[in-house]
Amino acid sequence: MRSVPVGPGPRRAPRNRVDTTRGGWKAGLVFAPNVFPLVELKTERLLLRAHEEQDIGPTVRLFADELSRRWLSSPQPYTLEDARRWCTQTSHSLRSVGDGIHWAITDRATGEFLGGIGVKSTSWMNRVTEVGYGMGSWARGRGYASEATRAVAEWVLREQGFHRIELFASTGNAASQRVAEKAGFVREGVARNAGFSHGGQQDMVMFSLIPADLPAPA
Ligand SMILES: CC(C)(COP(=O)(O)OP(=O)(O)OC[C@H]1O[C@@H](n2cnc3c(N)ncnc32)[C@H](O)[C@@H]1OP(=O)(O)O)[C@@H](O)C(=O)NCCC(=O)NCCS
Repeated sequence: MRSVPVGPGPRRAPRNRVDTTRGGWKAGLVFAPNVFPLVELKTERLLLRAHEEQDIGPTVRLFADELSRRWLSSPQPYTLEDARRWCTQTSHSLRSVGDGIHWAITDRATGEFLGGIGVKSTSWMNRVTEVGYGMGSWARGRGYASEATRAVAEWVLREQGFHRIELFASTGNAASQRVAEKAGFVREGVARNAGFSHGGQQDMVMFSLIPADLPAPA
């Protein structure tokens, strides 16, 4: 897996340093959030890049699909406007406010949009974050979700210096649990009522990966 910086470099403020360059406060005292750097990740078959306007159509198809409706908490029905907002605004602003980072999963050779992956609910103090993903129905069953998940996890742990990355899959979502296992995550137990989907509150299998689980770099 290779990560390639995109656009302006990391905008992570040293902890507790007052940043007087942001915001419009008269006193000029605003704390800049920690943020993930804007990077693209490359694996053998995939390019993970920031969402773009061209992803709007396939993003609607991804979320309109029966499995996504069942296991994700995205709005239903998922409209073109929802996808436009996600691809052009929300996925980017979640990075700028320090919540996480989101990528489109694309075919490295053809550029085809295959799915989405990201990390969210990041605790910068504990350096713990959580990965989530969804593949378009046309791209499932080829190992792409596992490949992308492993790449994101390695980047978070090795290059961003995190102590732990979590993955929650509903107890009924066998495919997602299998993705976690194939990506090398360790099953820790069941977190009761920890998730929500349109089927209601869900018991979630909790997986994690920590630096000690990774092989030493070659
Ligand atoms: C979960 C999801 C991302 C998997 O995507 P994918 O690209 O098919 O994943 P992979 O090909 O990497 O691996 C899927 C594995 O699950 C297995 N699998 C798929 N459906 C299964 C089922 N119903 N029961 C058991 N295993 C299943 C596959 O056989 C494969 O394992 P294998 O390689 O050992 O045969 C995809 O099904 C999806 O987008 N679902 C809807 C959204 C979702 O559930 N997101 C996760 C929320 S936690």
